[in-house]
Amino acid sequence: MTRLLPPDAAGIAEAAALLRAGELVAFPTETVYGLGADATNGKAVAAIFAAKGRPLFNPLIIHYASAEAAFADAMPTPLAVQLAEKFWPGPLTLVLERRGECRIADLASADLPTLAVRVPAHPIALALLRAAAIPLAGPSANRSGRVSPTRAAHVLEELEGRIAAVLDGGDCPIGVESTVLDLTPTPADLNGRFPRLLRPGGVTAEALAPFTGGALVTVGIDGTGGLLGPGMLASHYAPSLPLRLHAHDIGPDEALLAFGPALPGAKLVYQLSATRDLGRAAAHLFEGLRWLDHEAARAGLKGLAAMPIPEEGLGQAINDRLMRAAHLPTIPIFPPPYLA
Ligand code: TXA
Ligand code: MG
Repeated sequence: MTRLLPPDAAGIAEAAALLRAGELVAFPTETVYGLGADATNGKAVAAIFAAKGRPLFNPLIIHYASAEAAFADAMPTPLAVQLAEKFWPGPLTLVLERRGECRIADLASADLPTLAVRVPAHPIALALLRAAAIPLAGPSANRSGRVSPTRAAHVLEELEGRIAAVLDGGDCPIGVESTVLDLTPTPADLNGRFPRLLRPGGVTAEALAPFTGGALVTVGIDGTGGLLGPGMLASHYAPSLPLRLHAHDIGPDEALLAFGPALPGAKLVYQLSATRDLGRAAAHLFEGLRWLDHEAARAGLKGLAAMPIPEEGLGQAINDRLMRAAHLPTIPIFPPPYLA
């Protein structure tokens, strides 16, 4: 049985004790729910891969209570220090070189010489990290290949009976995962450009641009030079029904993911934001995909259609997730649209 723990002092203390004992506990972050385990404990980390059905070659993000703690395991570059000051705690993950004295289990980063680190902003995540006093490996708390959970009930749908507990922090305010930025030395085949945006997310490209200048957008495409983790696989965020993007009309067998006034004729609609607010749309994207997929199947519909979403601000992360949900390769764009 998976326990549902309240987000009070007792619940956090219980979650911390379970984690310290090597158990798996899902916890809320400002982006999505993470599936936490003691990142220094190889057995606990292995249990994450087993519970999610995640391929062992897909590395995990390590969560810390402070930048200082993160940089004790991962070597910061000058840019990493600047970005940490500006965006941590918050939805930015930095890929850095592992330090020699790094305490993190090799399996957590799939035996790579690099480590993905982040300091989450959610008060419950921070309280848990402080109480547990260990770094937490934390992939999104879904079965591998499925939509990320943004509330405790979604975690239970995915992982009930496979993990010790879920710390219930209500809805995740941002709703799409962290931005993943690789600051490690650039492979020669990438024009020597540096740093690299591996995944658009909660910190927008526009917010990063003053710091990173010509960040090379390399997201996407399966098997890009073997450079990216398979977390970049196109089918990472899949609903069970086929998804059609940039819909300007709606078929008789389709349910609609609306952004702005819904297309006429839709029988089943999930509204991401009637006022075309990208922040609200991001916060409700995964919940909407989950709900629409389920309800459309129940109603005997055959597919989902999503209205167009502008490729700006959080729209970039939303479109990236929609492309993956539609099994389309996300295309590496250079220069990134915000610089063009
Ligand atoms: O918002 C988030 O980042 C959430 C919350 C829970 O923090 N976590 C999350 O984890 O989305 P996950 O495992 O679902 O996605 C982590 C992504 C994967 O695409 C993985 O391949 C990539 O980060 N990643 C992790 N370590 C890496 C590394 N050393 N080098 C390159 N990519 C890495
Ligand atoms: Mg994930």
